[in-house]
Amino acid sequence: MVEVDKIIKQAEVEIKKVKNLNDLSKLEIKYLGRNGLINDLLSKIKDIPNEEKKNYGQKVNQLKTSIDQTIKVKKRELQNKKPDTFFDKTLPGKAYPKGSLHIVSYAIEEITKIFEKINFIRVSYPEVDWEYGAFESLNMPSGHPARDDVETSFIDAPAHSVLGKMVLTPHTSNGQNREMKRVKMPPIRMINISKCYRPNWDATHTPMFHQFEGLCVDKDITIVNLKGTLDYFAEKYFGKGTKTRLRPHHFQFTEPSFEVDISCNNCGGTAIVGTIRCKVCKSGWLELGGTGMVHPNVLREGRIDPEKYSGWAFGFGIERVIMMKYGLDDIRNYYSGDIRFLEQF
Ligand code: FA5
Repeated sequence: MVEVDKIIKQAEVEIKKVKNLNDLSKLEIKYLGRNGLINDLLSKIKDIPNEEKKNYGQKVNQLKTSIDQTIKVKKRELQNKKPDTFFDKTLPGKAYPKGSLHIVSYAIEEITKIFEKINFIRVSYPEVDWEYGAFESLNMPSGHPARDDVETSFIDAPAHSVLGKMVLTPHTSNGQNREMKRVKMPPIRMINISKCYRPNWDATHTPMFHQFEGLCVDKDITIVNLKGTLDYFAEKYFGKGTKTRLRPHHFQFTEPSFEVDISCNNCGGTAIVGTIRCKVCKSGWLELGGTGMVHPNVLREGRIDPEKYSGWAFGFGIERVIMMKYGLDDIRNYYSGDIRFLEQF
């Protein structure tokens, strides 16, 4: 019995001292919990002499009710307690960090605006297409090395009897045939921006990347128009004074075909900074992407008469032009999700 009285006193003192609800619930567990002191006392009833058992049981139950009541009163008191510290409700709230567009989204907006100014229509053709759109319509017959599954990712789905297998498009050139068939009659001025996929992974290649594809078809379109448009883009995107040059190359869907380079802004196209060789370009020029005059077979496949119309096309990597503009050295940072990299733009 002495023990029961002792516990009542101890509980009252402890509950009185409690300053917050968290500590109060710890005490509730200590006394009234499944393994608490009250249940412990009740379990000892078997050791109490028979004549005292009744009295003992009543006492422990009183103790339980008393502690329960004291805890409830204390709980109400704590819940109604006003905070001790002064809180100024008129102060402005905390500003949480805001998100922003990804560096690639910014570039897509910028490039779209540059081409819209010269009447190009922004489109976005499928990332998943048939072999016909990605290759066949572009004068790339079956057996062309780019159609190998080492170069292109195929979708595990039944092939179409005419259009072939499904692929993750390796380039935005799949938009050429679709745009010719959509517009039906030139003039065509398309800027197709979309995701592309190739099984590559290194400092300048990612398995998913973006390209922008220009296509211009009309009467009397020549390489002069192409060069003028490339110069216009280079100055607007990379800055005044940026020049372009065309180097002979080969693509199945253009004839003649070229690689486009832009003059390096780090060395002004001289390849020398001070007295040392420019670290960005080494030659005064940086490679932008592929271009050329649309192949007559591609025009025919788009139901356009190559005797009446001619055109040019180009395809450049968005991630690549951003790298060139800001002098970045590893494309993989774009998709690392590292906020410290992304916050710089
Ligand atoms: C092509 O994709 C052609 N379709 C371009 C073209 C269009 C030529 C119209 C003529 C007429 P190429 O494979 O070179 O070409 O790719 C063009 C650009 O895409 C490259 O210069 C590069 O900037 C970018 N690119 C290609 N593969 C990757 C990759 N894995 N990661 C990031 N960028 C890439």
